[in-house]
Amino acid sequence: MSRPVVYLTRRLPAAAMAILEAACTVTLWDETERPVPREVLLRGVAGAEGLLSLLTDRVDAELLAAAPRLRVVANMAVGYDNIDVPACSARGILVTNTPGVLTETTADLAWALLLAAARRIVEGQKLIEAGGWGPWHPLQLVGVDVHGATLGVVGAGRIGAAVLRRGRGFAMRLCYHNRHPTPALEAETGARYLPFDELLQTSDFVVVTVPLSAETRGMFGAREFALMRETAVFVNVARGPVVREADLVAALHAGRPRAAGLDVFEHEPIGPAHPLLALANCVCVPHIGSATVATRTRMATLAAENLVATLSGQPPLNPVNAPPPAPSQG
Ligand code: NAP
Ligand code: GLV
Repeated sequence: MSRPVVYLTRRLPAAAMAILEAACTVTLWDETERPVPREVLLRGVAGAEGLLSLLTDRVDAELLAAAPRLRVVANMAVGYDNIDVPACSARGILVTNTPGVLTETTADLAWALLLAAARRIVEGQKLIEAGGWGPWHPLQLVGVDVHGATLGVVGAGRIGAAVLRRGRGFAMRLCYHNRHPTPALEAETGARYLPFDELLQTSDFVVVTVPLSAETRGMFGAREFALMRETAVFVNVARGPVVREADLVAALHAGRPRAAGLDVFEHEPIGPAHPLLALANCVCVPHIGSATVATRTRMATLAAENLVATLSGQPPLNPVNAPPPAPSQG
């Protein structure tokens, strides 16, 4: 039996490569760090039945037109805002993602940012590096308390719920906002459902974990920052375009919110001249929410498993859409 041809937009960890090479004819952009140039990708998918994509690969009408045999796009991420899902569905192409396996790792990173911004960790290191650590003094690098404060999560799904659970260990009051209240989450964590504006007005820490969608694009701008407490800390581990970045820069300049911790940015990657990096009250890291060896390996193997299952006629583990069968070519 002929093996399906798949295209990988990057070389993946060995465990994932083994799954794919056992079942498919693998063609790939054989690099680990440098993204595939667009024209190489468009040529690469020409004969492919399966595509394993990263969150930086745009899967749009142009790509689908270049891939007439494509049956499945397996994204190595839980977020799939890089993929035009309706266009895939219209072509009968299945889309899969990697939910669950990165939840706890990403929640850990949200907390790392929360603590770093609240307790001015990066400022402290920079002060020492600059030779500016003089005698101890009562108000040097004073921050805000995390324990006993109010934690508000916007988008309390898998990752948001894991962020809330960690808040219990810090004796925090917990609240959340989704489009729909989630009674099971409230029963488990004691978190209170709040309307969006009320959550912003009430929370000492606002953590964003919504997917990027038409509804959430630009969800946080000047109005929302003005509603936050002056002492609030804002953390975004969702997607950059959920925030109007220019408004965040202005808000942090003005000191409301007091500080921010960001893993994601409107246009990634950002460079050293980015205005957010000039702000002492902003901690920035380069989209590393899921970046542990174990989690990235699990994401890659899950994406590979989704690709192989679909191409061998099995139900995929993590379907995003349920496309009708592709129109017959005959
Ligand atoms: P999830 O389980 O689907 O949770 C998303 C939550 O957002 C749900 O509770 C959903 O509840 C809520 N939501 C959706 N639209 C909303 C809206 N318009 N207003 C308010 N709440 C809304 O997803 P997840 O696995 O937690 O992942 C969430 C996102 O995190 C991903 O899509 C990805 O973009 C991002 N992420 C980032 C990293 C990183 O490296 N920084 C890593 C993993 C994931 P309702 O449906 O009830 O509204
Ligand atoms: C990472 O950002 C993901 O969506 O998995």
